[in-house]
Amino acid sequence: MSSGHFDGIWPMLTDPESIRLTGTHHRFTEDEVRDWLATRQDHHDRADWAIVRAEDGEVLGEAALDELDAPNASVSFRISLVGPEVFGRGFGTEATRLAVDYAFDVAGLHRVCLEVFDFNPRAQRVYEKCGFVREGVHRDALLWEGQWHDAITMAILATDPRGESTVDGSGIVGDPA
Ligand SMILES: CC(C)(COP(=O)(O)OP(=O)(O)OC[C@H]1O[C@@H](n2cnc3c(N)ncnc32)[C@H](O)[C@@H]1OP(=O)(O)O)[C@@H](O)C(=O)NCCC(=O)NCCS
Repeated sequence: MSSGHFDGIWPMLTDPESIRLTGTHHRFTEDEVRDWLATRQDHHDRADWAIVRAEDGEVLGEAALDELDAPNASVSFRISLVGPEVFGRGFGTEATRLAVDYAFDVAGLHRVCLEVFDFNPRAQRVYEKCGFVREGVHRDALLWEGQWHDAITMAILATDPRGESTVDGSGIVGDPA
């Protein structure tokens, strides 16, 4: 991921549905995002990907492995596509599978964990399809428009099955940075 992805990523950070589903209270400025993109290459303890459609180079979203806990070979995962126009077309599943494969097969990690809000069954389904197992609940972890919501914790271990494969592997390209 780099500065060249700004135009593709910016709509995601201003799309109300993406903001809601990720529970993002912070409102990013263009300068913050440009600085963030420009510094991705400097970090060697995380992987930040732009999700790019192979056929036409369209930026579909972003995914990251971050919060590395090196002594325990554990990392966190997060993903967001740019907006509803690309939800539900299999891209999230494919990108999640690729990130999990990278964590275990390339980085040699043991555990990938994540949090997903109770109002996001599509994301939960994607994570289950990719082999993530529900581990617990952070009760009332998010206050959104006056309502409390739980955050469900999920994880996959290197020794777990990675879920049924429905992906043909042809759709998405990207190198972590
Ligand atoms: C979450 C996200 C990455 C998923 O990617 P996606 O490309 O939209 O999802 P996919 O098309 O790969 O798969 C969606 C799956 O959820 C299922 N699904 C959709 N809506 C659902 C619902 N309301 N309840 C249960 N399952 C649902 C689909 O049927 C499909 O499963 P299937 O293949 O078994 O039929 C994407 O929607 C996104 O970026 N959302 C906004 C940000 C976000 O929620 N990020 C995650 C924060 S934890």
